[in-house]
Amino acid sequence: MEDYVTMNGGDSPNSYTMNSKIQKEGSDKARWLLSTSIQENLELQNTSRVFSIADLGCSVGPNTFSCVETIVEAVKLKFRAQGRPESEIPEFHVFFNDHVTNDFNTLFKALPPGKNYMAAGVPGSFHSRLFPKASINVMHSSFAIQWFSKVPEEVTREDSPAWNKGRVTYALSSCQVVKAFASQLFKDMEAFFRARSVELATGGLMVVLMPCRPEGTHPSESGIHFLECLGNALMDMAKEGLVDEALVDSFNLPVFLPTPSEVKEVVSRNEHLDIVTLDEMHQPPPQLSTPEGVRLWAIHSRAGLEGFLSKHFGSSVIDELFERYCQKLEEFSKTPHFTRVFEFKNLLLLAKRNGVC
Ligand SMILES: C[S@@+](CC[C@H](N)C(=O)[O-])C[C@H]1O[C@@H](n2cnc3c(N)ncnc32)[C@H](O)[C@@H]1O
Repeated sequence: MEDYVTMNGGDSPNSYTMNSKIQKEGSDKARWLLSTSIQENLELQNTSRVFSIADLGCSVGPNTFSCVETIVEAVKLKFRAQGRPESEIPEFHVFFNDHVTNDFNTLFKALPPGKNYMAAGVPGSFHSRLFPKASINVMHSSFAIQWFSKVPEEVTREDSPAWNKGRVTYALSSCQVVKAFASQLFKDMEAFFRARSVELATGGLMVVLMPCRPEGTHPSESGIHFLECLGNALMDMAKEGLVDEALVDSFNLPVFLPTPSEVKEVVSRNEHLDIVTLDEMHQPPPQLSTPEGVRLWAIHSRAGLEGFLSKHFGSSVIDELFERYCQKLEEFSKTPHFTRVFEFKNLLLLAKRNGVC
């Protein structure tokens, strides 16, 4: 079994379940557009008695449940708007996908009691095929496809011009490093959309909500800079002998924030998908002006990143690392650079599976 890293499972204070409000705020902002885009663009003539929905990179909840609810309700509204009788509204089958190592038990235990769909878990990487051909009517993914399938090997090698020494992201790195991160994301996104275009039924919809950076900005001018504060904390710990510096030099977070036009370029290369909507949306930025705001951001980051960090550095350094991360975030919030990266954006993409075979 592949040893994939996932969000913190369970429902302890450091779990994703308890620390996914930032993603929830982004999804809430996109809800109206998600619902109206589905109602305006879904084609009902090809739907059968079972309507299949997949949420890719669902994690452990609860955000996945409200996204699925919005989709189910939007589809029902579309049926009713077309004057179809209630008896023609199909049954809904919802597939929750994440890595095999995701805490699916927590997810299943949290399924809403009055849900109006049948649920199934689909373990596996969304960079490959997960479903039979033309079997899904709506695919959804939020805050997931910015993650790579792997760290690009050239950023970890000492003899490579793209070696990312002493850093954990590309925020302050050379252009070779930025290029290596960007091209890994574009390769992975291409594989993601290739698999989805096979699995979507003709006329079916693919919806992606993901963090992005504003059009026309440099890769460093984005929320990714917040995560480089972790790199700074790790380097301080290395200088004090608390972690091995070589481990810091070989560690990179497998994530890149693209612009909307970069995403558009990748999706446009897929001849089976037609882009219907591509909207930049405002994400309320983290409030780092108070210690509570700093802690909130740090604990959210921990719920998502602890797995990557403990796998590489061991779990014994994690508490100390996140204490130092808070200090680094406070220092960063007082620098002029902070105001330049203060704008957080999400991207909502809706694409339709066309009839090209
Ligand atoms: C930040 S969480 C988002 C969870 C949820 N969609 C939400 O909006 O709250 C990202 C999820 O994507 C999953 N993920 C990342 N890469 C994946 C892949 N290649 N295949 C399946 N899931 C993946 C992670 O395991 C994680 O659970």
